[in-house]
Amino acid sequence: KRRILLDCDTGIDDALALLYLAPLIKTGEVDLVAAGTVHGNVAAEVGALNTLRVLEDAGVRDVPVAVGAARPMAQAVSLAADVHGSDGLGEIGLGDPEGRPVGFSAPEQIVRLARENPGELTLLATGPLTNLAIALLLEPALPELFREVVIMGGAFGHQGNVTSHAEANIWHDPEAAELVFAAGWPVTLVPLDVTHAAVLDGEWLDRLAAGDTDQARLATRILAFYAEVYRRQLGRRGVVIHDALAAMLALDPELGEYTSRPVRVELRGERTRGTTLWDRRLHAEEDDRPAVKVAVSVDVETFRERLLASLL
Ligand code: BDR
Ligand code: CA
Repeated sequence: KRRILLDCDTGIDDALALLYLAPLIKTGEVDLVAAGTVHGNVAAEVGALNTLRVLEDAGVRDVPVAVGAARPMAQAVSLAADVHGSDGLGEIGLGDPEGRPVGFSAPEQIVRLARENPGELTLLATGPLTNLAIALLLEPALPELFREVVIMGGAFGHQGNVTSHAEANIWHDPEAAELVFAAGWPVTLVPLDVTHAAVLDGEWLDRLAAGDTDQARLATRILAFYAEVYRRQLGRRGVVIHDALAAMLALDPELGEYTSRPVRVELRGERTRGTTLWDRRLHAEEDDRPAVKVAVSVDVETFRERLLASLL
């Protein structure tokens, strides 16, 4: 049984990750210990309300949701209304949740839960890494306290989705990502290279739209806005649900293949700020930075079928 501490910026594909996890939480296969939110797709406060709202719609209550960092460490905040809608959930007019965020911050929550459950929790990050970086600053022993850290982020061969080379979660706070990749904890990165290999095509969207559950209906409504964005980007009907893939790999790492390498973030490039680089040298062990695992391929069919099954 996995015990997950989620850090997110909900967000349409973050919402799909929550909808994927919800049935597993309800059957007790997954323990969603808590969630925290960060600036990114939407403001951190909005992300917290979205997280609560989606969990409530999926029948999951009592998960503490903490608001985290309102801005990145060394640049101005920048949101992604063009991809996720001004409300982060595709502008379908979902009302406010019944629940409210807890009264402490997401980085404090990460530190407290890690200390209380040493070696037990999987930290799943589907937004910019500001909260993780702050938590590392608050508790230097944090890297020893997590079972693992699974992060949706980065692009190694694939084109970026904010700039030519940079992926959004890293680009939104490159300094935070650098701290996280240097920390020496057991990180697995799920980059655009694998999320884009797992496009959910028009046929998948049609099967979802034919679904007769509240979750399938909610997912279909939320995805309409996102599907338009991706139709333009991909040149055909389809969506890329990055964060749900990261959630699935956090529960079932066997669905992926990985390489283990030191990863750095370009902080000063004229055109490459926020780009992730892995050490390409054959003897990467000569690098003084600890290696992280990077997913290089995934079982796409299983991802598609399992995600659909969890919504139907
Ligand atoms: C990542 O950026 C956000 O827009 C998505 O929610 C996902 O976490 C993809 O680059
Ligand atoms: Ca996200």
